Amino acid sequence: MGSSSLNDMEKLIRQRREFIPRGIFNMTPLIISEAKGARVKDITGREYIDFAGGIGVLNVGHCPTELVEAIRDQAGKYTHTCFHLMMHEPYIALAEKLNRIVPGNFPKKTLLANSGAEAVENGVKIARYFTKRPGVIAFDGGYHGRTLLALSLTGKVKPYKLGFGPFAPEVYRIPYAYCYRCPLRIEYPSCDLGCVDYMKEVFRVHAPPQEIAALVVEPVLGEGGIVVPPKGYLEKLRGICSEEGIIFIADEVQTGMGRTGRMFACQHLGLEPDILIMGKSLAGGLPLSAVTGRGDIMDAPHVGGLGGTFSGNPLACRAAMEVIKIIEDNALAPRALEIGRKVVDGFRGFQENYPIIGDVRWLGAMIGLELVRDRKTKEPATKETRQIIKSCCERGLLITRSGTFSNVLRTLMPLVITDEEIDEGLSILDEVLREIRI
Ligand SMILES: Cc1ncc(COP(=O)(O)O)c(C=O)c1O
Repeated sequence: MGSSSLNDMEKLIRQRREFIPRGIFNMTPLIISEAKGARVKDITGREYIDFAGGIGVLNVGHCPTELVEAIRDQAGKYTHTCFHLMMHEPYIALAEKLNRIVPGNFPKKTLLANSGAEAVENGVKIARYFTKRPGVIAFDGGYHGRTLLALSLTGKVKPYKLGFGPFAPEVYRIPYAYCYRCPLRIEYPSCDLGCVDYMKEVFRVHAPPQEIAALVVEPVLGEGGIVVPPKGYLEKLRGICSEEGIIFIADEVQTGMGRTGRMFACQHLGLEPDILIMGKSLAGGLPLSAVTGRGDIMDAPHVGGLGGTFSGNPLACRAAMEVIKIIEDNALAPRALEIGRKVVDGFRGFQENYPIIGDVRWLGAMIGLELVRDRKTKEPATKETRQIIKSCCERGLLITRSGTFSNVLRTLMPLVITDEEIDEGLSILDEVLREIRI
């Protein structure tokens, strides 16, 4: 595609403002023309290194040839059947594959949906049906999507929940192990994971365990600021769930598909969730999500109780099969660990030079840089984070943010990024950090 002018870009941005609601946030003012691997071009012909990966959707990179071919091939056969009306092989093949690769040494079944939020909703529906209990436990700082129940489970007011209540009932919230800003003001490891014991407070004060169907947890908080819990945390949560018959749902929408150095983050701990939720990178950018879980739980709802018009779209299923093959054939999960090490080396160097960097957290290629105005008070550098993202974009680096204070620079780069591209991105960020004034 040829380059358009700056005027075309400005015109499109004006039209965007006119035709599309302002509530849909835009992190950058860019309009894309094409992308490949970890590089993106806008319609003026400017190139960018991509450290954002469509917010964790492009683990196999932009437009890998095999993926594009698979989608083209499927588009030439049939694009939609509605699985309720007519079954198709790509859905069945993908379910079989996910049942095999999702951790858990027990028979599994898989339901497909369209978005992470929809998959989370289905996971909870199924857990409620199976347990015949109403309650759900979710976490401060957790993020699960924008539909009513997913938003009710989400623990971040601005921009997600503000003004959108009332929320779904029977959601009970506990703190996440955000040790840099421990909500209980205690310290790991002497805290003995007091934040997990908070669950017992819920049982004492809000709802007994016999009324809790599920606990929905991200193995690493993504939107919540790349919060990697300490050793023992998820295992302890899992233990309480097993004791109390609560369905342990791992929301791996952001951590899954090789991002953290294993196909699924739970595998780092040998953790076997009852239900595991996938989305984002699952189909390489086509809308698809999945709920894979213990066969007996997944089979609980009656015939006709689950599904949807587009759920398990054949194009998206073919894409997902190809994505999984690319991750496996190219060892992208181990590559995520290498990427993580390299980027974190760079980030630690920044931390020595720039006082704005309060904390560096990571699991594989899911990396967060928490920015503070003062290392002692930890006052969040929210405004500065916004400025850094803007300046990076102006110099050719796409990077995003997260955190309940929106002060964490977050990298979710494609796992096909080269070392040279990482260096290029890091040197842009270095320049920007050098110039930022608190
Ligand atoms: C952990 C997690 N769960 C669920 C979702 C919601 O996914 P979607 O935006 O596809 O509804 C997200 C999206 O960022 C996520 O990070």
